[in-house]
Amino acid sequence: MKYEIKNILGSGSSATTFLIKSKNKYYALRRQKIFKNEFIEFKDNFTHDKILENTDKSLYRLIYFNKFINTINKNHFTIIYEYNIDKCKFIQPLTDWVQNNPNALKKYNELTDSKYCLDIITDIKDGIINDILYSLNIEQVYSLIIQIVFAFHLMHSNGFYHRDGHSTNLMYKKTSLKTIKIFGMNIPTFGYLYSLIDYGDTISTKFKLSHSEMVAITYGNYKYEDIIRFLNECIFHSDKIFIKIINKLINNEKLEFYELEVFKYKRITFEDTKYYCLNINDPKKIIKYFYKLIKLKKK
Ligand SMILES: Nc1ncnc2c1ncn2[C@@H]1O[C@H](COP(=O)(O)OP(=O)(O)O)[C@@H](O)[C@H]1O
Ligand SMILES: [Mg+2]
Repeated sequence: MKYEIKNILGSGSSATTFLIKSKNKYYALRRQKIFKNEFIEFKDNFTHDKILENTDKSLYRLIYFNKFINTINKNHFTIIYEYNIDKCKFIQPLTDWVQNNPNALKKYNELTDSKYCLDIITDIKDGIINDILYSLNIEQVYSLIIQIVFAFHLMHSNGFYHRDGHSTNLMYKKTSLKTIKIFGMNIPTFGYLYSLIDYGDTISTKFKLSHSEMVAITYGNYKYEDIIRFLNECIFHSDKIFIKIINKLINNEKLEFYELEVFKYKRITFEDTKYYCLNINDPKKIIKYFYKLIKLKKK
C-alpha cells in the first residue's frame, strides 16, 4: 500500500513502529533492519508457500506466526495486513539494553550499516500496558490477566511459545466491546483489549528448528515461562522480592512473614497470586478464577 509516515508509535531493541496513513485510514508500520544477504535471499521468497518452507529463519517465523494466529484470533494479537522487504534509509535507535549486551550491540552495529528493512503493516494499538497499569482498577487488572493468559493459551495450544512477553510487548487498545467470549464466558473488557505483540522470538515445533532449538523446546518449559513472566514483569514489575516469592509459590514453599506483608502494597492478593502460580499448567482454571473475582466485585 502507498502511505505517508505521520509519527513514531514506539521503539524497541530491534524495531521501530510508525503511525502511517493510507487512503484516509491509519495503520502501524513496524520497521526492522535486516542484513543484505537476508534481503537477497528473501526478495523472491516472500510468498505464503515459501514462508512455510523457510521457518528455520527468524524473519519468516514472525510473519508465519502472525498470519497463522490471525486465522484464530485478532483481539489479542496484531493484525497483519502487509509485509515487505526493501531498501531503506532508516536507523534503529540504540537502546540501553542493546548497549549493555555485547552480542546484541555487535548485531546492532552490523545492521546499522545495512541498507535494508523488513516492514510489517498491522493494526494500531494504543500503547504499552505499563502506561496505564496504575490507572486500572482491580476489575480491569483481572480482565487484563484473563485476556493475556488467554492469549498465551491460544499460542501454546497451537504449539507456539512467545518467549519475549515483557511489558513493552504487551499492549492495550480501547474498545467499545463490553464483553468478549473466552472459554464460553462473557469476560468484561472494562474498555480495553490487551494483546501480545512482537513475535521475533516466537518458536514452535511447526518451524524447522536447529538442534539446539529442538533441545530447548523439548527440555525447557516455555509455556510455563511465558505465563510466569507475565505475572512477574507486568503485574509485579520485576520486583526482586516478588520474583523470589513467586518462585516459592510455584514450589509450594511457605512464605516468611515479611514476604506476606509486601502483598499489602500490591493489588493482587497473596491468595490470588498463589492460585495463579499453582495453576500455571491450567490457564482455563486461572481464567475462571479471575472471572469469579470480577463477578464477586459486581455484587
Ligand atoms: N501495532 C502497534 N501499535 C502501536 N505501537 C506498536 C505496535 N507494534 C509495536 N509498537 C510499539 O513499537 C515498539 C517496538 O515494537 P516491537 O515489535 O516490540 O519491536 P522490538 O523487537 O524492537 O521490541 C513496541 O514496544 C511498541 O511500543
Ligand atoms: Mg518488543
